[in-house]
Amino acid sequence: MSILETRPYRWPDEAACERFAQALARCPQISDLSIELDGGLGAGKTSLVRHLLRALGVTGRIKSPSYAVVEDYAPPGLSGHPAHHFDFYRFSDPREWEDAGFRDLFAAPGLKLSEWPEKAAGMLPTPDLRLLLQVNDDDSRDVRAEARTVRGQDLLGELDRQLAETSD
Ligand SMILES: Nc1ncnc2c1ncn2[C@@H]1O[C@H](COP(=O)(O)OP(=O)(O)OP(=O)(O)O)[C@@H](O)[C@H]1O
Ligand SMILES: [Mg+2]
Repeated sequence: MSILETRPYRWPDEAACERFAQALARCPQISDLSIELDGGLGAGKTSLVRHLLRALGVTGRIKSPSYAVVEDYAPPGLSGHPAHHFDFYRFSDPREWEDAGFRDLFAAPGLKLSEWPEKAAGMLPTPDLRLLLQVNDDDSRDVRAEARTVRGQDLLGELDRQLAETSD
């Protein structure tokens, strides 16, 4: 899997994670995008997804999909497309991939957010973006974004503009 472009980000606190999510939500590419979230337990993968879905207008409860593997949403800010929040931590049987219809979800337009993608290695199609979250001793996060598709690369360019607007 080739990396077309990378960007480093730093979130001093969770408010920075929230601002990042809000900038991401303003990028038009977000309505049809697959993002893999990497980082150990408690790195902040679910937190980012929650802030992103909130920024896209989801008002109800946002559960961690660790048991159900996937939670589906219809965010008002996604121009009619659905959002799917996956957590593959407990995913063990590759047959579940076909049985649960995940192949179809990934093939259809929408926002796909995947925690623990390595547990579904070999099943997941190439994501547009991979985000690697790392926790520092002071609880800040270092985040590396890797664009894996041209669409992901376009998104990083747009994200630069959106983040510049928030920091003014
Ligand atoms: N800069 C930050 N960015 C994101 N979360 C932060 C930050 N600082 C502190 N946190 C906290 O860290 C915790 C991250 O938990 P979260 O459930 O999002 O992790 P996770 O990566 O999804 O873990 P798991 O692998 O168990 O699913 C939350 O309690 C959140 O409030
Ligand atoms: Mg999580």
